[in-house]
Amino acid sequence: MTREHYIVGNWKMNQTLEGINAFFEGLLPKLGNSPTHNWIAPQAIHIPLLLKKGEGMIKIGVQNCSYETQGAYTGELSPVALKDLGTDFVILGHSERRAIFKETNSELALKVKQALKSNLKVIYCVGETLEQRESNQVEQILSEQLLGALCGVELDSSKDLIIAYEPVWAIGTGKTATPEMAEEAHAIIRKKLSEIENIDPMTTSILYGGSVKPSNIESLMAMENIDGALVGGAALKAEDYIALCNTNC
Ligand code: PGA
Repeated sequence: MTREHYIVGNWKMNQTLEGINAFFEGLLPKLGNSPTHNWIAPQAIHIPLLLKKGEGMIKIGVQNCSYETQGAYTGELSPVALKDLGTDFVILGHSERRAIFKETNSELALKVKQALKSNLKVIYCVGETLEQRESNQVEQILSEQLLGALCGVELDSSKDLIIAYEPVWAIGTGKTATPEMAEEAHAIIRKKLSEIENIDPMTTSILYGGSVKPSNIESLMAMENIDGALVGGAALKAEDYIALCNTNC
């Protein structure tokens, strides 16, 4: 079964104009014919700049958006306005949004549907905390996060929805799930996706996220159910990002 492969940089609340200029100076000459789709989600204010700098090589996304499209929602980002600007995708349900900003599966269900309706591709993140893993709740948590936000979703193409498995204990900690642990969770996710109407589990790409770097990407990507990576820290430096994008898959 062939699925699309992706390297997605999640820049979180990082990078300045100087850092962005340095990143692209180092990146563009070396990106070449990468075997993966190469995407980056910067801070929203940097989207127009990245659209210009990444043109033709990198698709640009956003790290969150509203479930409304317009109106009196001070501080929110409209998915329609983001699409209008040229934004290609949105990351929804990142564990930092769930933990710090208290986003729930039912709120995320609204966001996923509105983003898809606005023609943004969606990367929907799921993953358990260490406590949940240690009390054998991985399958239950993944099931709640997937079914709770994706039931009733309508897709024009299975490329419009990507899942990212990011165990919370592996994000920014330097602790990566072993390829076998990640593969086990990805297989659970694929099984759960088969329970959701309108989603084809076999053609949906599932990315791994959590302390991915050039030294561990290959063993992760070698797993049958791992179709790429959502990368924080290592996506901030052009050299590491290029190495990730040139991984065999
Ligand atoms: P990390 O972050 O690669 O720095 O662990 C991943 C993420 O939060 O998406």
